[in-house]
Amino acid sequence: MMGQDDLKRAVAKAAIEYVPFDCIVGVGTGSTANFFIDELAKIKHKIRGAVASSEASAKRLQAHGIEVLSLNDAGNLPVYVDGADEITRHLHMIKGGGGALTREKIVAAASKKFICVCDASKLVDVLGKFPLPIEVIPMARSSVARQLVALGGQPTLREGFTTDNGNLILDVHGLSIMNPVELESTLDHIAGVVTNGLFARRGADVLLLGTPEGVKTITVDG
Ligand code: A5P
Repeated sequence: MMGQDDLKRAVAKAAIEYVPFDCIVGVGTGSTANFFIDELAKIKHKIRGAVASSEASAKRLQAHGIEVLSLNDAGNLPVYVDGADEITRHLHMIKGGGGALTREKIVAAASKKFICVCDASKLVDVLGKFPLPIEVIPMARSSVARQLVALGGQPTLREGFTTDNGNLILDVHGLSIMNPVELESTLDHIAGVVTNGLFARRGADVLLLGTPEGVKTITVDG
């Protein structure tokens, strides 16, 4: 029987098809992205290097002998490959379970194509069952939390966690996100919010979904 790791490995392999020859690849964070990094290592002589969305991914890339460049040096990227905590058929996502959402959003924004790699458990009809991560400047923790409560959520502080950027994460429970594009903008306008984990304005372009029947390719057009 295929376990979740087999599904993650299968989508990671499938994502390699989207990596152009001699390019710099944008690389996400998390267990599925780790499988992708391991697949990338097998073709490392065919790429110029990678831009990582976290210190953890940078370390794993370097351990494989893949050069890690800063986004400032790399410029725009042809492709960004990353997982998600939840994704809809519109390819809107919740990300940030690993706390790397800000760098993920930055690298995704600088990339022409976002390839999302997930096992089937991540596909949902409505986002929000997975608590929405929000990166917050430490001094704004309480005031942001109050505004999140006013929006109908129940924020909890991710205990003992500091982001790569030195900030905090509030995980917002109890949201049923019917309009992720609008909520993403609303949350971004709260003073003290660095980034919210909705990736809807810039969603994925391609979803590679690992199922027991094989890897399914889903695009916004179906
Ligand atoms: C990291 O901050 C997240 O956005 C990840 O993309 C997400 O948590 C997916 O991780 P897994 O592949 O481990 O489920």
